[in-house]
Order: sequence, then C-alpha cells, then structure tokens
Amino acid sequence: MTEQHAHDGFVLPAIGLGTYRLNGVAGADAVSSGLRAGYRLLDSAFNYENEGAVGRGVRESGIERSEVIVTSKLPGRHHGYDAALRTIEESVYRSGLDAIDLYLIHWPNPGVGAYVEAWRALIEARECGLVRHIGVSNFLPEHLDRLEGETGVRPVVNQIELHPFFPQEEALALHRERGIITEAWSPVGRAGEMAEHPVVRGIAEAHGVTPVQAILAWHVARGVVPLPKSGDPERQRENLASTELALSDAEVSAITALGRPDGRMKGQDPAAYEEF
Ligand SMILES: NC(=O)c1ccc[n+]([C@@H]2O[C@H](COP(=O)([O-])OP(=O)(O)OC[C@H]3O[C@@H](n4cnc5c(N)ncnc54)[C@H](OP(=O)(O)O)[C@@H]3O)[C@@H](O)[C@H]2O)c1
Repeated sequence: MTEQHAHDGFVLPAIGLGTYRLNGVAGADAVSSGLRAGYRLLDSAFNYENEGAVGRGVRESGIERSEVIVTSKLPGRHHGYDAALRTIEESVYRSGLDAIDLYLIHWPNPGVGAYVEAWRALIEARECGLVRHIGVSNFLPEHLDRLEGETGVRPVVNQIELHPFFPQEEALALHRERGIITEAWSPVGRAGEMAEHPVVRGIAEAHGVTPVQAILAWHVARGVVPLPKSGDPERQRENLASTELALSDAEVSAITALGRPDGRMKGQDPAAYEEF
C-alpha cells in the first residue's frame, strides 16, 4: 500500500471508504465491516446525515480508535465563523467520538464568498482540539491561493471529483507541488459507464482483476487516495485489494487518456456550483 504524505507530515492510507448513503443501522454495519476488512480512512459529511452511523461503526468495529481517520465536512449554509464552529461541534457530538480527525470545507461556494471565514473557524476548531487536521474539498487553485494568502494556513487535503473521465492532471500537479494530498470522490464513476470502457476492461483482463479494481489501482499509481463507497462487504474487500495491484506506466497513461473536457459526472464545476 502506498501511503500519502502532506506538507505537515500528516499521512493518509492509500485508499479510504466513501459513506454517502450509508445511514442508520445498515450504515453503521457497513462502516464496521469496512474497518474490519482493513480500511482505516472513512469519508463522511455533515450533509450526509450519517456522522452518527460512522461513529457507531467505528465503536462497533473493535478497531482501536487511534488507528482510524474519520473525516467530515462543513456544509455551505454554515460558512459564517460562528455557525461553522457550532456545526463542527455538532459533527463531533453526532459522531460520539472524541474529535473528528480530518475536517474539510465541503464546497467553496464562491458566489457566497465566505470560505475564508469558514477556514478561520476550522483553524480555531483545530486549535481547540475539536478536529485534528483540516482541509478542503472541491477547491480550485484560486480558492487554495486565497486561503493560504489570507490565513497563512495550507490545507492538508483537497478532495475533488476525479475518475478516468475527469483525471484532473493540473490539479494533481499543483497539489503535489504544495504537499496537499488529493482525495478522489466518485473514484469509480459510481461503477457505471467507465467501468465498461474497453480500455479499462482490457487492462483489468490482463491482470485478472475487475474493471473497478483496475480504476482504483490507477488512482493509487497516480498518488491519489480514492474513496470508493460500497455498503457490500464483498465489494469493500474487492476495492481494498486493488491497492496491491501495480499498473505499468503505459496502462496508467491509457486510462488517463480517457479524460474528457466535460467528463464531470454531473457538471458540478466548483467555480459556479453552490451546495448548501
Ligand atoms: N466532496 C464531495 O463533494 C463528494 C461528492 C460525492 C461523493 N463524495 C464522497 O466520495 C465517496 C465515493 O463517491 P460516490 O459514492 O459518489 O461514487 P463511487 O465510490 O465512485 O461509486 C459508488 C457506487 O459504486 C458501487 N460500487 C462500489 N464498488 C463496486 C465494485 N467493486 N463493483 C461494482 N460496484 C461497486 C457502489 O454500490 P454498492 O454500495 O452496492 O457496492 C455504489 O453504487 C462518497 O461516498 C462520498 O464519501 C464526496
């Protein structure tokens, strides 16, 4: 497994478990089964309404709390400083955990223009121990520049839409240069069309693995931490096993070449998209 290191020494495992739509008892069971299978990084968000299920899954898994990195995210409607701090407190209470390990601003919502204020609240939350590490999601280069320029604090992670149809080469290069770890959301394109693509299928067949595993190995080879969501223990193990698969440089390039300018799944361009 290839760990990823941020500029401040923070380390993430090669792969994490997405949890969107893993809610309630079934969600807690899925999180717990993921941890028992070997995942140590969990992705969640205030807006997924499952911080409780994630926290419960952590407690029920029997895995040491200190070995697990739990992520949550601040929604757009709470970017004001006081609202952000209250929301982070609420995330911690909902999870039932001592603290959240990694807290991200979910979207920059540049039309509102309060993401720097939100970032100041995340910095304060880290200082008072509510969260351990802070980062962002869906931030474009100009948003990253503003955060650092105005606060002097650089995010450890930027979680972005990234999959074979939208390989984000420029963002990856920028993050690498700055020591910001790139996490990929919808890393397997929700196991739709791109897992059926002949290039992906051909590479998978050459290695005797599934197309989803070939896509996940492509992320790992590029130094990206994919966050595939699965509620199914068998598919969770399948996805985790992809980190053992090494693709050749030519195979990595062939998958990257599937990128399209309009390759986003739902056209959610962070320059314009607003999520509250
Ligand atoms: N920051 C953001 O703005 C943002 C946005 C979207 C998502 N996310 C995060 O990223 C995570 C992943 O993204 P996502 O859930 O959109 O998409 P994804 O992980 O690309 O795909 C998940 C879908 O693929 C299926 N699947 C997973 N592994 C499979 C396998 N090996 N074979 C066949 N099907 C498989 C899952 O079904 P089963 O569960 O039935 O296996 C589920 O329907 C989310 O859960 C969330 O944590 C963040």
